[in-house]
Amino acid sequence: MGNSTLCFLISFALLAYYIYTPLPDNIEETWKLTVICNSFKIMHYLATSTEMLGLAHYMDVIYTITNQGNVGPISDENVTVTDTTFNGIPVRLYVPKRKSDKLKRGVFHIHGGGWCVGDKAMNDYDLFSRWTANRLDAVVVSTNYRLAPKYHFPVQFEDVYTAVRWFLQRQILEKYGVDPSRICISGDSAGGNLAAAVNQQLLDDPDVKIKIKIQSLLYPALQSLDMDLPSYRENKHMLILQKSLMVRFWSEYFTTDRALEEAMISSRHVPVESSHLFKFVNWSALLPEKFKKGHVYANPIPGTSDLAKKYPGYLDVRAAPLLTADTRLRRLPLTYIMTCQHDVLRDDGLMYVSRLRQAGVQVVHEHVEDGFHGILSFLSFPTALNVGLRVGNEYISWLKENL
Ligand SMILES: *[C@@H]1O[C@H](CO)[C@@H](O)[C@H](O)[C@H]1NC(C)=O
Ligand SMILES: *[C@@H]1O[C@H](CO)[C@@H](O)[C@H](O)[C@H]1NC(C)=O
Repeated sequence: MGNSTLCFLISFALLAYYIYTPLPDNIEETWKLTVICNSFKIMHYLATSTEMLGLAHYMDVIYTITNQGNVGPISDENVTVTDTTFNGIPVRLYVPKRKSDKLKRGVFHIHGGGWCVGDKAMNDYDLFSRWTANRLDAVVVSTNYRLAPKYHFPVQFEDVYTAVRWFLQRQILEKYGVDPSRICISGDSAGGNLAAAVNQQLLDDPDVKIKIKIQSLLYPALQSLDMDLPSYRENKHMLILQKSLMVRFWSEYFTTDRALEEAMISSRHVPVESSHLFKFVNWSALLPEKFKKGHVYANPIPGTSDLAKKYPGYLDVRAAPLLTADTRLRRLPLTYIMTCQHDVLRDDGLMYVSRLRQAGVQVVHEHVEDGFHGILSFLSFPTALNVGLRVGNEYISWLKENL
């Protein structure tokens, strides 16, 4: 977001106004949203045509455009902001200036962007980290990781895991004045996927002695086995994340070979040998009644492709945290999950809420009825949205109470 969006908005506001975009009835600020929506569409057409001409990969175009408004590590009156590395991984650190004898809370945040785009320096991520640091009196670490299409799974996961492990060392926490018993690992969207995976991995890491207090998963992506969930059907063309884009993100996480994307679109990517995994993403059993309404469940049909042999990542729990058995889920910390009604990823989050509760994990579930994917990326001018500000504030207040 930021300047690039501003450019887009101004250049195309007029055009955008004439392009009809159907929006759900309960969503506010329709005019602003229509403009945002159309800026994303235009970005999509630009990236698609650039790719078709063979000039650049689709994701590289999106990455370049969305990073135009990035901000530097600039301290303000409340928070000292610096860029550094944690064992080679670039992170941005937000340390509150407020003096106190007490140790501070620690929040480790992982940005979203479909494992392909996004950056800790994006204006809205930077803003949200400042707010978190200031209001919680917390040390916030916002991490980067290498992205697709240049790097594929498990690089993204491993980069984040490397940074998390570095942060969780006693002497590092001590250096930054962080209380080891008050640490939250959070992420939004693809970052929520990485946060969920990292929290699971930490459970079995003999070198990490510190127990995470809270994991926060904000509209996370948690599996790619079933992309015909009710939420995918209902929000197939919803801003800002259409089904086609989400499938592309998932497939790019594992490979640039578009055969995987094609198989995923038509649900032919899960081989017979792995059909036992479907029970972990069975929306018929895992979704509350209200979200199943009007949808008919059919047992998924396994594919015959050999794609899973070539790109086994999508069957790996480090990429699909929903595929983890209950015996392991049981040991996870207090979990905050945010889902948005108008989001293809809604049911991933809902199913994880069910699976975690069934396993006995304490879950706080915030469902945003008037929300859509990525709402926390709309916090600053000119794309600040009431829904993003409201939900962001509520989330920070919850953390203040519970972390
Ligand atoms: C600093 O903190 C105060 C009190 O929380 C707040 O009113 C002010 O806006 C903050 N300044 C910045 C630059 O965020
Ligand atoms: C999914 O759950 C339903 C019950 O809600 C059950 O009939 C069906 O066999 C299950 N399918 C799989 C693949 O687990």
